[in-house]
Amino acid sequence: MNLETIFENNEQWILRKTQENPAYFKDLNQGQTPEVLYIGCSDSRVTAEEIMGLAPGELFVHRNIANIVNAIDLNAQSVINYAVNQLEVNHIVICGHYSCGGVKAAMEAKDLGILNPWLRNIRDVYRTYKSELNSIPDSEKRYDRLVELNVEEQAINVVKMAAVQRAIRQRGLQIHGWVFDIKSGKLIDLKIDFAQILNEIMEIYRLEE
Ligand code: CO
Repeated sequence: MNLETIFENNEQWILRKTQENPAYFKDLNQGQTPEVLYIGCSDSRVTAEEIMGLAPGELFVHRNIANIVNAIDLNAQSVINYAVNQLEVNHIVICGHYSCGGVKAAMEAKDLGILNPWLRNIRDVYRTYKSELNSIPDSEKRYDRLVELNVEEQAINVVKMAAVQRAIRQRGLQIHGWVFDIKSGKLIDLKIDFAQILNEIMEIYRLEE
């Protein structure tokens, strides 16, 4: 790839946008009011705005390897707190994807150095759902299921946060678990019942009366 192409593409894009709306960038500069926080994988094939057909300003985005929400990851915790408290998003989406290299790596006995503690978050998901996962004989289906369970567990990690609990209670903030299927391009809502999950875990994770 010639990086010059990127700057040429950028000039073309500016031209297209200002032809459609001469005030496009002036409007964009006014500020952002995204209604959705998207937490997804860094995978280059899962381009959040493009697969959802959203424009600049519509999606607040956090991406990392295997869409993990870890309590001591200052980056993810800052993004979520800012999105909930300052931007006041109405939805938080955790979006995993099938064929996720991070999830795959966590299923293999391989030393990946600095990635070990990061991917251990996924191994912990595997341990939590070990009996369900081990009962799936087909290894591809087991891999897909771990992708889905990882989405569910990371969404639960979001619910453990004080700011999120407050926003759910005070203004009905919603959490969603989705998966992107690279093979078909389809975005799938896992329809995780967060009301039910909340009931089950809040006696442990509640941070305020
Ligand atoms: Co991935």
